[in-house]
This record gives sequence, C-alpha cells and structure tokens, in this order.
Amino acid sequence: MHWKVPLFEPCFGPEELEAVQQPLRDQWITMGDVTLRLEKAFAKKCGVKHAIAVNNCTAALHLAVLAAGIKAGDEVICPTLTFVATANAIRYVDATPVFCEPIGPENLNIGASQAEGLITAKTRGIMVVHYAGFPVDMVAIQELATKHNLVIIEDCAHALFSTLHGRSCGSWGTVAGFSFFGNKNITCGEGGMVTTNDDQIAKCVRNMRSHGMTTLTLDRYNGRAFSYDVIAHGYNYRMDDMRSALALAQLNRLDGFLHERSRIRERYCKNLNGSQILIPNFNWESISQRGDTVGYHIMPIMLPTGCKRETIANRLKEDGIQSSVHYPPIHTFSVFSQHVEVPLHLQRAEAIAERELTLPMFPTMTNDQVDLVCDSLLGSLDEAYH
Ligand SMILES: Cc1ncc(COP(=O)(O)O)c(C=O)c1O
Repeated sequence: MHWKVPLFEPCFGPEELEAVQQPLRDQWITMGDVTLRLEKAFAKKCGVKHAIAVNNCTAALHLAVLAAGIKAGDEVICPTLTFVATANAIRYVDATPVFCEPIGPENLNIGASQAEGLITAKTRGIMVVHYAGFPVDMVAIQELATKHNLVIIEDCAHALFSTLHGRSCGSWGTVAGFSFFGNKNITCGEGGMVTTNDDQIAKCVRNMRSHGMTTLTLDRYNGRAFSYDVIAHGYNYRMDDMRSALALAQLNRLDGFLHERSRIRERYCKNLNGSQILIPNFNWESISQRGDTVGYHIMPIMLPTGCKRETIANRLKEDGIQSSVHYPPIHTFSVFSQHVEVPLHLQRAEAIAERELTLPMFPTMTNDQVDLVCDSLLGSLDEAYH
C-alpha cells in the first residue's frame, strides 16, 4: 500500500548511513564500544547515572521489573490504555498487572488518585506510561509510592525526552525502559534502554541482559577477563554495535526531530481548533513548569461521541492517509481476561478507546500533509454520524 501520508516514517540521512558502516569496518558488530558510547550519551541526555542498552523496550521493562524486586504473586498497577508490552513485562515475573483507568478524554495518562484506589496488601509497584510523550504527574506518583512503599517503573517508550519540573522522563522512577522500535522518536529497528540512578538495579540489569554471566565477550577480547561465572538465569537481551551506531546517530539528531514534531502538533491544533475534535492536552498546563518540554510522539485525537471511527478511518484511507488506534485496552484482550472469574470493566478506558484515533506524525511530515489530513478528517465527520 502506498500512502500519501503514512502514520510514521523513520528519518535517516548520511549520518545514519555512515554510522552503521563503521562497526563493519572495525570488524566488531556485537555489543562493544559503540554500545558503551550510546549508553553514556543516553545517560547524559536523560540525566541519570546508568543507561543500559538492550534489544528492545519489552526486554528493558522485563529487566526493570525483575531488578526492582517484583516477584510472583506481587501486584503492579499499570494503565490499561497502553501497548501490551507494559503488562506482559509484569506477567514475565509471574506478578499481576492491576489495570488502572486513564484520567479522562483530556488526559489519557493514569493519575495518583486513580492508582491509589487499586492498592492492596499485595501491591509492590506502579508502572506508568507517559502516553504520546506527555509526562504522567510524577510528583503525585512519587508521593503515592513513598506513602505505600512502592517501586516506580516508567515505561518511556513514547517519552524521549520529555521533561517535568526540569527532570527528564526516565529519571523519576526506580527504573525505566525506552524503545527504539521503527515508529519511535529515535529508531534503530529494534532496540531499547534501561535507565536508573540505583547502582544495585544497574548491576542486576547488566548481568541479566547477558545470560547472568560475569564477563562479556568484549571483556575477554580486550584481555580484561579470560573466563566467566554464571550467577543467575539471565537472558540474551543484548544490543549489537550496528544498531547502537544507528541509535547514537539518531540520538544526536533528536532535538531537530522534536522541533519538527512540535511544529506538526501545533499545526494540527490550529487546524482542528473550533471543530468537534478534542485534542487531549494531558493537563499539561497544570502539571508542568516553565521550561518543561514534551517530546511529542504520537498524535491522538478524541472523536465526538456517537460518530463512527471506522467511517472516518476509511475516508482517510481513501484519501491515502494512514491512521491507527492507541490502544485497545489491555484488560479486554483474551489472554488477560480468561483467568478472571468476573470480567473486568473499566468503563472510562473502554469509552475513550472507542473514540480515540491516531493521526500521522513524523519529523519529515510537511505542513501540506498535515492540512491534507485535517481536511479529510473534518470532511468525513458528518458522514460518520450516519
Ligand atoms: C508504551 C509502549 N511500551 C512498550 C513498548 C514495547 O517496545 P518494543 O517494541 O521496543 O519492545 C511499546 C512499543 O510500541 C510501547 O508503545
């Protein structure tokens, strides 16, 4: 299918083409010095002590949950309006995701008051997702976590690098995970990062990402070690240097990408202003401070109640425009609902999920393309009520 306006498009130039070739020339393609350089640059940008590269965000969240000490039988509160990986990471350690309602159609994030009502004697943690790049109110989440002695895990797949009170997403929680998947704000195809300020958590993540081994192939190649011990049943969640090189080149261009994403969001807001479309603003004015920035990721809108999303998506498609839905609520998926005796109904999440539509957003999207999307969308609204 050839779209006039795809939902997303990666942005690669000479920097990336050059970067991916270097590990080939250097004859070192597995995890090595380039990955170390990526980790160092990422930690600096995020304002954290440790950044540990892994092969995707799902692996990052799995290691985050594990290293934070979440165990079988524990409960972890997380949003239902997110990608399934958020909850799967909790299930990987046999803990139970407890699904939380979003704040509302204006703010698709979870809030401390929604989460507090779900706390039981088994609750050990809270996993937040900074939906579309808009930070969750982390001040309130931290207060809640302190009061109930919970660990905080941040799913920052969308939030590279939004700030709140001058601090980057990924530096607020006990531990956090980022994604470099093809549709993310920087990409290397598949890739991810764990961030933390906690030395013990960092040590555990580093060890568990490579089979629980005490040394790496690079350590042995460099003569820093001859053999190894295995101290835990770890995983192979390593990043390789070709993808690290690509991610590093993209990281260096991130500020430019975010600038373009802001332009696109502003134009959408201007074009759709005064229409029946609601653009969630995530209570940004009330939780942020001067100088805070959102690293916009996706462009979610709320359609008017009662109009048919399918009709609108079809009209956009006829006009060559790709759209999507973020997200079908996780609690409605078979694998998450089949073991519960009474089916869970989270009415707010379900009502929001029915109205949500995600419009295209990517750094090279032109103003004309934004206008085309808005014209097609607004032109389809009347038809969508029938
Ligand atoms: C909110 C959220 N969490 C986690 C992930 C998983 O990321 P990855 O594909 O890098 O494993 C995604 C990816 O789309 C996501 O959107």
